[in-house]
Amino acid sequence: MPTTRARTRKAAAPPLPPPAARQRFRRNLLAWYRRHGRDLPWRTTDSPYHILVSEIMLQQTQVDRVLPKYHEWLDKYPTFEALASADVEEVTETWYPLGYNIRPRRLHSIAREAVEKYGGELPSDQETLLSFKGIGAYTAGAIRSFAFRQRAAILDTNVVRVLFRVFVAKGEPKSHAMTKRLWAISEVMVSHRHAFDFNQALMDFGATVCTARAPRCPACPMRRMCRTVARKRRP
Ligand code: ADE
Repeated sequence: MPTTRARTRKAAAPPLPPPAARQRFRRNLLAWYRRHGRDLPWRTTDSPYHILVSEIMLQQTQVDRVLPKYHEWLDKYPTFEALASADVEEVTETWYPLGYNIRPRRLHSIAREAVEKYGGELPSDQETLLSFKGIGAYTAGAIRSFAFRQRAAILDTNVVRVLFRVFVAKGEPKSHAMTKRLWAISEVMVSHRHAFDFNQALMDFGATVCTARAPRCPACPMRRMCRTVARKRRP
């Protein structure tokens, strides 16, 4: 009979990829990104405002639909101050036709808070970023790594798919426990010196190679280390 203590003990956390696998994944991903990464306007700026706008737009919308709206938006509202002083109804109209009308309202309220509390800047630490309504764990990681070049992890739908397929391959990718595990994997994976490129690369890789419906496994630089490919190879 196990003792009460033994029965109530928490299951051990699943192991994280070992250091050699982390290095291999980083090296392969960064090499792939150098050749195939997309040239996107929010990758040549370090303005936290521009990066926030792009990330909120990209939350539910494909890159090619975001591009024209991103430029139009920044022409019209070039700074947090400009956005904060605009009328929220006009801001929502400018957002059209991107859809999910909560997003322009959130962006507007973040701009107001940035102006009122932080002198028109975005703070760079996780806790303060998360205190904004409309900035969740993914957006906080994106802002920290893209705007402030910090070693911060991200986990969006594309990243879930890539990390789940390469390092896990069993279980339910959308469960709470799996999300926690995938965050932990993303945190250990993110490159120490190239967090910006690494995170941008993860997203491009998920959007163009490790895609949801037709992954391009034969062309994939991770195929030799990918658990999903290995499972498919087994009879
Ligand atoms: N989706 C979300 N963020 C993105 C980014 N920075 N580049 C491309 N796709 C994205």
